[in-house]
Amino acid sequence: MKILVVGQGGREHTLVWKLAQSQRVEKIYCTPGNAGIAQIAESIPMPDQFTDLADWAASENIALTVVGPEAPLAEGIVDVFRERGLKAFGPDKRAARLEASKDFAKQLMLKNGIPTAEHQTFTDAEAAMAYIEDRNAPVFVKANGLAAGKGVIPGRTFKEALEAVTTILVNRTFGDAGDSVVIEEELIGEEASFTVLTDGTHCLPFVSSQDHKMSHDGDTGKNTGGMGAYSPAPVITPELHNYVMKRVVYPTVNGMAAIGSPFKGVLYVGLMITDTGPKVLEFNCRFGDPEAQVLLPRLKSDLVPLLMACIDGTLAQYADVEWHDEAAACVVMASGGYPDPYETGEVITGLEDADAIEGVTVFHAGTKQDGANIVTAGGRVLGVTAIAGGLHAAIQRAYQGVSTIHFDKAHARNDIGYRALEKLQK
Ligand code: AMP
Ligand code: GLY
Repeated sequence: MKILVVGQGGREHTLVWKLAQSQRVEKIYCTPGNAGIAQIAESIPMPDQFTDLADWAASENIALTVVGPEAPLAEGIVDVFRERGLKAFGPDKRAARLEASKDFAKQLMLKNGIPTAEHQTFTDAEAAMAYIEDRNAPVFVKANGLAAGKGVIPGRTFKEALEAVTTILVNRTFGDAGDSVVIEEELIGEEASFTVLTDGTHCLPFVSSQDHKMSHDGDTGKNTGGMGAYSPAPVITPELHNYVMKRVVYPTVNGMAAIGSPFKGVLYVGLMITDTGPKVLEFNCRFGDPEAQVLLPRLKSDLVPLLMACIDGTLAQYADVEWHDEAAACVVMASGGYPDPYETGEVITGLEDADAIEGVTVFHAGTKQDGANIVTAGGRVLGVTAIAGGLHAAIQRAYQGVSTIHFDKAHARNDIGYRALEKLQK
């Protein structure tokens, strides 16, 4: 069959890489793709309209379209494909509200007794500020809509919290994504990502993973899309796994079905493991990036039938999914300056040497082909990923890969996985 993958980051390179291993797949297209994806799939330009992409997919007999990022899902790409009679993996526009509206997600959690931070939603800046005055800092101030991972502002002090309200509601820094703010209490603990596939009824959990969101070592610096990830995440014990499935995942999926908006696709739950148990920080309606880079290499089973089963409502038939026992680690190499403005067009060398290391795969994110060279073209450039017998060895291998790759002003964290290694040493 022919498959189309939508997106251009490290997550999409990983999806293409995994799908390409399926016996069922004869050809993969990716729109718009990147230089790494172009080595295993045919890149096509992303048309302005989803209807044009659906027309193209119909004319090419694309049997499955896999949508990587949240923005096209929230804009209804799956609805457009479905109306054309095409199979597209991911939630439709209404179901993608779970990520695209924080207020919607909060209401769903409240209604279904899902543990999360206390919150209030405001459209009026004065009312929001009065609430902060009342409850004081620290709080988290969040733009309601999609803001490319930048819409969450910590209000550690009273002043910071008020400024965050001004940024979102008054200055409208995030445009319409800031038509309302969600203000919530600070949760203290360790974060973990929990990923499941779902057909709207049945849920298939992935192995555990964790990313590092901050730009610099020791989880300092600025919030980014993610500077690295690892799997398994020892913070998710078997007891916590069962608790999250029972108290978070199934109530969410059942809650969506109950309002006539079944959620099909990847449900990614961002959790804070607090002293009083796991609480939901956020829902995402797609694979995490760079979590996908460590989850998909650990999946032994063919991904194609699993994604098809999510669309067809037959996921219950796939209880015997197989995983590799090896651990996986991904270290992101970013352009110097990211997440602030950075330069692009730097020539990347050493990619083949890194790929030649046993267990190492370099997933491209912001790269493009420039004549004979592969050059940087984004903030996060590469996800150097390794699998090995244990987490420690996987992390070491990933860093061995990083050390062979060069581009001007490359930045990577030196401590990916440190919390997990500390836990494993105890
Ligand atoms: P979100 O996009 O909602 O996951 O927020 C981005 C990051 O902000 C999370 O990964 C957490 O590190 C942090 N965060 C968000 N909400 C809270 C909260 N209520 N308490 C503590 N940290 C939070
Ligand atoms: N790595 C965090 C995310 O994909 O949202």
